Amino acid sequence: MADHVLAIDQGTTSTRAIVFDAQGGVVSTAQREHAQLLPHAGWVEHDPIEIWTNTEWVLSSALSQARLGTGDLAAIGVTNQRETAVVWDRRTGRPVANAIVWQDTRTQQRIDRLAADGGTDRFATQTGLPLATYFSASKVAWILENVPGAREAAEAGDLLFGTPDTWVVWNLTGGIRGGIHVTDVTNASRTLLMDLRTLDWADELLEVWGIPRAMLPEIRSSSEVLGDTQLPGFASGVPIAGILGDQQAATFGQAAFDAGESKNTYGTGNFLLVNTGTEIVRSQHGLITTVAYRCGDEPARYALEGSIAVTGSLVQWLRDNLGIIEHSEDVERLANSVEDSGGAYFVPAFSGLFAPHWRPDARGALVGLTRYVNRGHIARAALESTAFQTRDVMEAVVADTGRRIAELRVDGGMTRDGLLMQFQADVLGLPVIRPAIVETTALGAAYAAGLATGVWKSTDELRAHWREDVRFEPAMPDDERERRYRMWRKAVSKSLDWVD
Ligand code: G3P
Repeated sequence: MADHVLAIDQGTTSTRAIVFDAQGGVVSTAQREHAQLLPHAGWVEHDPIEIWTNTEWVLSSALSQARLGTGDLAAIGVTNQRETAVVWDRRTGRPVANAIVWQDTRTQQRIDRLAADGGTDRFATQTGLPLATYFSASKVAWILENVPGAREAAEAGDLLFGTPDTWVVWNLTGGIRGGIHVTDVTNASRTLLMDLRTLDWADELLEVWGIPRAMLPEIRSSSEVLGDTQLPGFASGVPIAGILGDQQAATFGQAAFDAGESKNTYGTGNFLLVNTGTEIVRSQHGLITTVAYRCGDEPARYALEGSIAVTGSLVQWLRDNLGIIEHSEDVERLANSVEDSGGAYFVPAFSGLFAPHWRPDARGALVGLTRYVNRGHIARAALESTAFQTRDVMEAVVADTGRRIAELRVDGGMTRDGLLMQFQADVLGLPVIRPAIVETTALGAAYAAGLATGVWKSTDELRAHWREDVRFEPAMPDDERERRYRMWRKAVSKSLDWVD
């Protein structure tokens, strides 16, 4: 019986496919990393063809591990790194350039020019977003301006734009043989091109960025049947029935369906989302307003989001650039080799600082060093920076909503690190709850697809699947917590001051 759901999670560093059973349990997982292309300082690219090849591979591999065929799948859900821009030729299926990744800051000058006339909040009322290189619009504009022939081809209707969900779904549904060109409301809300109220592309924004409407995908709900797969080598088509940006998918997978419910995901970066229900809440304290999800024809649900650019990727940096660990998992052991950070504070402002500062000119800072500090202290300061940045975002959430959050639900790879989770609880002064399934991003996409195809009947049914696994209670004395946080803020001020 076709009662399994497969989720494809096209993330920043890898692509995964996970098969879930009708109880939301993981049946099989396949994962493949793709290259991070760093051609110049501040540039980050991915090869879309490599991403698609990896997607095909993980899809087949997860199915064969589970000993299932496409006929056993009720639906496929897709979730993805958000904002990353892919532009390809609809006639050949070939990308005209590498994907420009969300972390890429090459378009800063364009952003500065636009911000000079009206400030960085110029489009915030309409889009919920500040003007920043992070979002897709300036990346698409860059491709149209810098790739020879791209503008003419786009104006002739030959080029398509999409975030990775759109690219993957177009290929899954046939590509040049008739693939569908769609995205969902959550991904569209990250482009700086969609109006949060109408949930449609805004013509005046398309004009500002010089992006032809014909390039843009159709905006659909997060949970609805979009089309069937058409893949050579697979016997039957499977409905693609859900798309959510990865942070919104994690919110869905954590069953944070009601206003006031929240989650924090620890991936390449950290993303804390607080569901605000059908209300569009404008932040006064550096959070962004985004669509949380939309099921079928129901009204969209919105969220406030604190986006932190660098958390898990700092651990990769310790591995790849400093060489003080061999594997990412070794960081916990190294950090545990010392009692504390030895007075060191590490602000990883590698792409400037995102929420709540939105300061592209900030630069990384490692401060408080004495001769006593060793690699263990640096590893510890690196881990602690994730928890401190989360506290910065939490302060903004409290200031914006006027409410304290009672506990924080967490997920993502770094939450396996008990030392970090305990420190997170200590620094927030809040219980931190890790659920039984930490693969909530993929689970959320599977839930969205399964809801649209009748595998699950309602969000209440999904809520009943959620199980607490470990609860980290705050144990640090209040004065120590506040002293450390004060020192962290001092370190951040050094990072913000580092302007040429
Ligand atoms: O906004 C960027 C975010 O979607 C990336 O998530 O998990 O791929 O680092 P992740």
